[in-house]
Amino acid sequence: MAKLMLVPLQALLALLLFALTNAKVLQDRQTRQCTKGKFSSLTLPSGVSISIEQAVSVANNGTFGEGSADKGFPSNATGLPKLCAVIVSVTNTSATPQSKYRFGIFLPDTWNSKILTVGSYSFAGGINWPLMGEGPHYQLATLSTDNGHNSIQTDLSWATPATLYDWGYRAIHGSVQIGKLVTAAYYGQTIARSYYSGCSTAGRQGLKEIQISPDSFDGALIGAPAWDTKFLMPWIAKMAWDVLQYSGDQQFGATQMTYLQAQVLAQCDGMDGHLDNIVSWPEQCNLNFTQLLCSASNPSPDCLNQNQITVANQIYNNYVTSDGTFIHNGFELSSESTWSSLLSGSALTGFDADYIRYWLYNNTSWNITQYTDQVALDSIRINPGQATADSFNINSFKARGGKIMMYHGLSDGTVPTKSSSYYYNQTAKALGVSSIGGLNDFFRYFQVPGMLHCFGSDTNVNAPWMFAGGGQASFLQQYYGFGTGYSVPGLQGNSNYDALLQLMNWVENGTAISQVVATAWDSAGAVTRQRPICPWPQKATYVTGNINLATSWKCA
Ligand SMILES: *[C@@H]1O[C@H](CO)[C@@H](O)[C@H](O)[C@H]1NC(C)=O
Ligand SMILES: *[C@@H]1O[C@H](CO)[C@@H](O)[C@H](O)[C@H]1NC(C)=O
Ligand SMILES: *[C@@H]1O[C@H](CO)[C@@H](O)[C@H](O)[C@H]1NC(C)=O
Ligand SMILES: *[C@@H]1O[C@H](CO)[C@@H](O)[C@H](O)[C@H]1NC(C)=O
Ligand SMILES: *[C@@H]1O[C@H](CO)[C@@H](O)[C@H](O)[C@H]1NC(C)=O
Ligand SMILES: *[C@@H]1O[C@H](CO)[C@@H](O)[C@H](O)[C@H]1NC(C)=O
Ligand SMILES: *[C@@H]1O[C@H](CO)[C@@H](O)[C@H](O)[C@H]1NC(C)=O
Ligand SMILES: *[C@@H]1O[C@H](CO)[C@@H](O)[C@H](O)[C@H]1NC(C)=O
Ligand SMILES: *[C@@H]1O[C@H](CO)[C@@H](O)[C@H](O)[C@H]1NC(C)=O
Repeated sequence: MAKLMLVPLQALLALLLFALTNAKVLQDRQTRQCTKGKFSSLTLPSGVSISIEQAVSVANNGTFGEGSADKGFPSNATGLPKLCAVIVSVTNTSATPQSKYRFGIFLPDTWNSKILTVGSYSFAGGINWPLMGEGPHYQLATLSTDNGHNSIQTDLSWATPATLYDWGYRAIHGSVQIGKLVTAAYYGQTIARSYYSGCSTAGRQGLKEIQISPDSFDGALIGAPAWDTKFLMPWIAKMAWDVLQYSGDQQFGATQMTYLQAQVLAQCDGMDGHLDNIVSWPEQCNLNFTQLLCSASNPSPDCLNQNQITVANQIYNNYVTSDGTFIHNGFELSSESTWSSLLSGSALTGFDADYIRYWLYNNTSWNITQYTDQVALDSIRINPGQATADSFNINSFKARGGKIMMYHGLSDGTVPTKSSSYYYNQTAKALGVSSIGGLNDFFRYFQVPGMLHCFGSDTNVNAPWMFAGGGQASFLQQYYGFGTGYSVPGLQGNSNYDALLQLMNWVENGTAISQVVATAWDSAGAVTRQRPICPWPQKATYVTGNINLATSWKCA
C-alpha cells in the first residue's frame, strides 16, 4: 500500500514541479522583455534622464557592437551567448558642468544574479564592446561606459571641462548606478554581487570608483592601473623631451631600446637562479652599462654611446623636480622593448604633448621644446578632470568586505610597475598598515614577470602572462585569432588559471587568492609554459621538476 502510494505522490510532485518551472519560465519571459519599453519606467535619481538607444536580442554565438561609429572600439563582441544588448544614453543635470555619457550593457539569458563592469583603454571614447564580450560567458550582466566622448585612444582634443570630468570619474560612476537599475528591471530581481575588471586606464577607473563610491563593487580585478594621470602624463612628456632633444647618433632610438632589452635579459635573467629568458627579479639586478657602451670590445652596431646611456638612466630613474617634488617612478629593468611607443619622434606631436596642449593649458601652440618642471607642477595643481585616483584611504570599501586583486607586468614599458608598488604602499600608509603584506586580507598585489602592459610578452621572453585579467582574452582573440574571447583558452571555467573566478570565490566564499597560474602558448596554440603569479611580497619560488610546469613552483 505504502509502495503504491509512492507512485502517484511522485507523479504529483513531478507535475507540480513541471508547472512551477513552466510558470517560472513564463514569468521570466514576461519580465525579461528585450525591448526599449522594458526600461521606460525606471526610478531615476533627480536631475538624471535616460534614453534607450537600442534593446536588441542577440542569438547564441552572436555578435554585437556599433562598428566604426564607435571610434574607440570599432570591433564587435563576438561568439556571445544568448543575451539582450542595451545601449543607454544618460544626461545628468545635477552635475556641474552637466554630464552626458552612454553605456552598453549585455544581459545574458543565463544569469547568475551578478553584474560586471569593464573599463576603457588610454584616452578612448566609445563603449568597449570586445571587452564586454568576456562577461556574459561567466553568466554576468556586463556593462561598459563610453566615458562621455567618442574618440580613438590617442586623441585628447575632445577635452572640455565637462568631458574631462566625465572621463575622470563621472561616466563610470553614473553608468554603474544606472546599469544596476537596468539590470534589476530586466530580470525583476535584485543584484547579488557587483564586480569590476580592467587594465591600464580601466585600472584607474576601477580604483577611482572604489575611492569615491565604496559600495559600487564587491570585488575588483585591477590591471596595470594608470591611476596617476596628473603625474604620469607630464613624466611621459619629460622623458620624450629627454630623448628627442637629441638627434642623429646622439638620440636614444628604438634600435638601442631593442638592444638594451636583450642586454638586460642577458645580464638579469639569472638573478633568480633560472636562465629561463624571464627577468623575474629585476630589483636584484645591477645593470652594468659598461658592457653596453660602444667600444673595441663591443662593436655591436646597436651599442650605446655615453649620451644614450645617460638618457636610458633618466628613463629608469624616478623623476623628481629641481625643487624636490616627487613626480613619478621610473621604468623597471626588462621593460625596454615598448618604450619607443611613447618616446619616438611622434611624441613631439603625440598624446603626451597633447595632454599639455589640450588638458592643461588649452593652448595648441604649446610645443614640447618648452617642457620644464613647471608643467608637472601645473599638472598637479590643475588635476584635469580630477581623474587621478589618489584618495588612498579605502577603509570603507574594506569594511564592506570588498576585495581587490591588482596585478602589473614586470616588463611593462607603458605604465611603470613601480607605480603600482607605490600605489600599494600608499594604500598601506593611508590605512595605517605598517607590516609588509599587511593589506593581504582584502587587497592583494601580483607582479607578473615578463608581462608587458596588460598582456603579451616579448618574443625572446615568452613568459606566461595569461590568467584572464581584464581584456586579456579579447586581446588574444582580436590580435591573434586565438581563443573564444573569454577566460583562458583551453582552460575555461578552471579557477586555478582564471583570476576573475578566483576573485569571485574570494568575495563570496572568503577564499583569498593565494596564487593564479599564468599560461603561455606557442604560435600553434600549444601550452609552452605555466607558472604561478603570487601575492606580493611572495614570489614564484622553484621547488623541483620542469621549470615550464606550474607544479614545479610555489608562492613563497
Ligand atoms: C560561431 O559563429 C562563428 C562566426 O559566425 C562561426 O564561424 C562558428 O562556426 C560558430 N560556432 C558555433 C559553435 O556555432
Ligand atoms: C556588429 O554588430 C552589429 C549589431 O550590433 C551588426 O549589425 C554588425 O553587422 C556587426 N558587425 C560585424 C562585422 O559583425
Ligand atoms: C578650451 O578652449 C575651448 C575654446 O574656448 C573651449 O571650448 C574648451 O572647453 C576649452 N577646453 C578646456 C579643457 O577647458
Ligand atoms: C549625477 O550628478 C550628481 C552630482 O554630481 C552625482 O552625485 C550623481 O552620481 C550623478 N548621477 C548619475 C547617474 O550620473
Ligand atoms: C662591468 O663590465 C665591465 C666590462 O665588461 C667590467 O670591466 C667591469 O668589471 C664590470 N663592472 C662590474 C661592477 O661588474
Ligand atoms: C600659448 O602658448 C604659446 C607658446 O607657449 C604662448 O606664446 C602663448 O602666449 C600662449 N597663449 C595663451 C593664450 O596663453
Ligand atoms: C616646436 O618648436 C621647434 C623649435 O621652434 C620647431 O622646430 C618645431 O617644428 C615645433 N614643433 C611643433 C610640433 O610645433
Ligand atoms: C614599497 O614598499 C616596499 C616595502 O617597504 C619597498 O621595498 C618598495 O621599494 C616600495 N616601492 C615603492 C615603489 O615605493
Ligand atoms: C563557493 O564555494 C562553493 C563550494 O565550494 C562553490 O561551489 C562555488 O562555486 C563557490 N563560489 C564562487 C563564486 O566561486
